[in-house]
Amino acid sequence: MTEPFTVAIDGPAAAGKGTVSRAVAAHFGFAHLDTGLLYRAVGIQVLHGVDPIDAARGLTPDGLDNPDLRSADVAQAASKVAVIPEVRAALLDFQRAFARRAGGAVLDGRDICTVIVPQAEAQLFVTASAEVRAKRRWAELQARGDDVAFDQVLADVKDRDARDSERAAAPLKPSETAHVLDTSEMTIDEAVAAAIAVVDQKRKG
Ligand code: DC
Repeated sequence: MTEPFTVAIDGPAAAGKGTVSRAVAAHFGFAHLDTGLLYRAVGIQVLHGVDPIDAARGLTPDGLDNPDLRSADVAQAASKVAVIPEVRAALLDFQRAFARRAGGAVLDGRDICTVIVPQAEAQLFVTASAEVRAKRRWAELQARGDDVAFDQVLADVKDRDARDSERAAAPLKPSETAHVLDTSEMTIDEAVAAAIAVVDQKRKG
């Protein structure tokens, strides 16, 4: 398939969006962009003293595979820079161009269905309870050797939920056309299968 076909996936921190998005992209042979990495790449520069708007305007896709972008501190910094409208505006064109590339694309983030690609052919809102998400994030951080207390991770998740959902610029919320997938009681395989079924139906329709 060479026509653009966009799968837009939104949801709160640690809901399983990343895993679901990568699996959907692999299944359909689509390119994948984790848009949180763009905000994290801005956030890490801000932690090093760079102005957030300058960092966003100068951002290139190089270095998005830096494992340091995955740390808890960078996640908080990303959530803080993400409230700045000029930062969001600077990242818009890159995301839209990626979404409409030939051959299909999966983008995951907070505002993909609502702002970046509202015309996306398939739209999903992947969510789970704050406790389940904190447990998953805590296990991930432990595996990376980040020894953070569970209560701290839960507080961070709730803190980011509040900031991401309550901000004025492109707040996190399900679009009216998104299929809501609550993964609280699902295994990874079940969540992936459900997401693939939604995309499959949209492709056939
Ligand atoms: O998905 P993530 O946890 O890597 O995202 C880090 C932060 O970036 C998140 O707390 C809010 C922000 N973000 C955003 O505002 N819009 C997006 N499309 C993706 C992420």
